[in-house]
Amino acid sequence: MHSEHFTAVVTGAGGTIGTCISSHLAGLGYNLVIIDTHKNNLDALQSKIQREYPERQVLALTVNITSPQEVIQASRVVQNRFYGIDVLINNAGISPKLSNGMRIPALSIDDDEWDLVMETNLKSVFLMCKYFFDVLKRDKGKIVNIASMMGVTGSGVDTNQIFPYSVSAAHYSASKAGVINLTKSLAREFSESNVPVYAIAPGAVSGGMGKFDESFIKNLKEQIPSHQLGTPEEIVNTLNFLLTSGMSLTGQTLHVNHGWFMGG
Ligand SMILES: NC(=O)c1ccc[n+]([C@@H]2O[C@H](COP(=O)([O-])OP(=O)(O)OC[C@H]3O[C@@H](n4cnc5c(N)ncnc54)[C@H](O)[C@@H]3O)[C@@H](O)[C@H]2O)c1
Repeated sequence: MHSEHFTAVVTGAGGTIGTCISSHLAGLGYNLVIIDTHKNNLDALQSKIQREYPERQVLALTVNITSPQEVIQASRVVQNRFYGIDVLINNAGISPKLSNGMRIPALSIDDDEWDLVMETNLKSVFLMCKYFFDVLKRDKGKIVNIASMMGVTGSGVDTNQIFPYSVSAAHYSASKAGVINLTKSLAREFSESNVPVYAIAPGAVSGGMGKFDESFIKNLKEQIPSHQLGTPEEIVNTLNFLLTSGMSLTGQTLHVNHGWFMGG
């Protein structure tokens, strides 16, 4: 099903999961549009992919995806460069923490930070879907949103006696709940165009946002039935499955969390 004429757009491509997704898609033969605010990471990823897969086209765009103007401009650049895109992966996100790395109690979340998390994690998904929709190939384009288990469970607390133990705060969890819900609405609306919209909800993935201190990881592993954190490669495996699923799974959120949370 994959051919070298396929093109994928990956947001947050400079981060841990985004880098893994981008490298994997390049290996499958996709041309890539990699988007992030972190220019150095984007440049490093672009060089790595072009070194490993010299025949791929890789367009690196430094874009703040919370800005409608920047997203519109990016969609124009992509439309001019590629015939159309096959996959849009909305992966960028932030999870603010206290300076010691722990969860911010809900009552201590700054009002401005609430807005920033909502704009980065949720509004950006809406903007990317809205302004890239016309660039997605009809009957071929697919959208995959990276949500979080916390979007279903709510955020964590500081004791692993109460599920879930997590450093994610209330604004992060609420934003990811929005991503899961938005996935359902867009899936219904985009079904007429044969464009499936899926979400992947990781639990705790090592690296990236999952760079935690030793004691936190120990407590976390005690709560997870497999006693393991997830890996970016496991997110990629789920992505692979979704990319072969057609319309049958549109609107679904797949949980990838080693048995930490099982359910809707
Ligand atoms: N790592 C985990 O444990 C975990 C668990 C559940 C869900 N997730 C989700 O997976 C996704 C990737 O997480 P990660 O662990 O790779 O994190 P990461 O911090 O390594 O990567 C996130 C990337 O998003 C980029 N980004 C942030 N704001 C942006 C903006 N306004 N415009 C463009 N780019 C922006 C960052 O620069 C960064 O490169 C996120 O949506 C996250 O919420 C991660």
